[in-house]
Amino acid sequence: MELKKTVETLKDYKRKGEKIAMITAYDYSTAKLADSCGVDSILVGDSLGMVCLGYKDTLSVTMEDMIHHVKAVSRAKPDALVVADMPFMSYHITAEEAVRNAGRFIQEAGADAVKLEGASNVKKQIKSILKAQIPVIGHIGLTPQSVNIFGGFKVQGKDLKAAQKIIDDAKILEDCGVSSIVLECIPEELAKKITQEVSVPTIGIGAGRYCDGQVLVFHDMLGLFSEFRPKFVKLFADAGNIMKQGISAYVNEVKNGLFPSAEHTFGANAELIEGLYGGNKNDSSE
Ligand code: KIV
Repeated sequence: MELKKTVETLKDYKRKGEKIAMITAYDYSTAKLADSCGVDSILVGDSLGMVCLGYKDTLSVTMEDMIHHVKAVSRAKPDALVVADMPFMSYHITAEEAVRNAGRFIQEAGADAVKLEGASNVKKQIKSILKAQIPVIGHIGLTPQSVNIFGGFKVQGKDLKAAQKIIDDAKILEDCGVSSIVLECIPEELAKKITQEVSVPTIGIGAGRYCDGQVLVFHDMLGLFSEFRPKFVKLFADAGNIMKQGISAYVNEVKNGLFPSAEHTFGANAELIEGLYGGNKNDSSE
């Protein structure tokens, strides 16, 4: 029997050399689906701003948006570790505010851990959240909440100085006591070095083959978000097209009176038919 996965489970996987599979999910049904496939962790990412709410980036996502979706995922009671992504401005202002917001994810929304972006700039916040006994997952490299500083969603750590800064950031996060580190959009040789040099698991997205685990956005890997598909995304199933086929078939059957058929219809007993239609049985449905 598989037990509930915790941040310690992921650390154990790194020690044993077992890869970690993380996926995002944002609601009850998709969390259940992902959990039934054996994912180790479900990240309720602020990427929901783009794939569920239609924003151009993650910056408009609020604490209330996140709480709403984390609650839905938690109701699925997954065995997978549920990680709540701290949205832009929920941890940047003060450490006190960061702890309060991280606490809401655990206490109100049922998350098992929180994730936040950055390292040296949010050291105080990370330490304070950890002091409140809330596990923290770090996120460095391309941190989407810094999109305006980066000037777009661009691969990070491409020259030695930038690469060294990301290595230093990973070590800062490790020293702070994070449970694992998401590495986003960096060269795989850099991700490899970080993975070798830190004791906590690295979970890559666009960070190549050598990370301790991988994470992908649900809508990207299943073809549900068609606005753009980054190079690092593999389309594991074209569910978007299958859904389109299903919806088109539904529209066609409704328009042509083929749906619903008797199979999907509730019949009435003779007494009710008599009451409704009297002698005009032909007015009732066949
Ligand atoms: O919000 C998100 O989905 C993320 C992943 C890209 C790691 O942070």
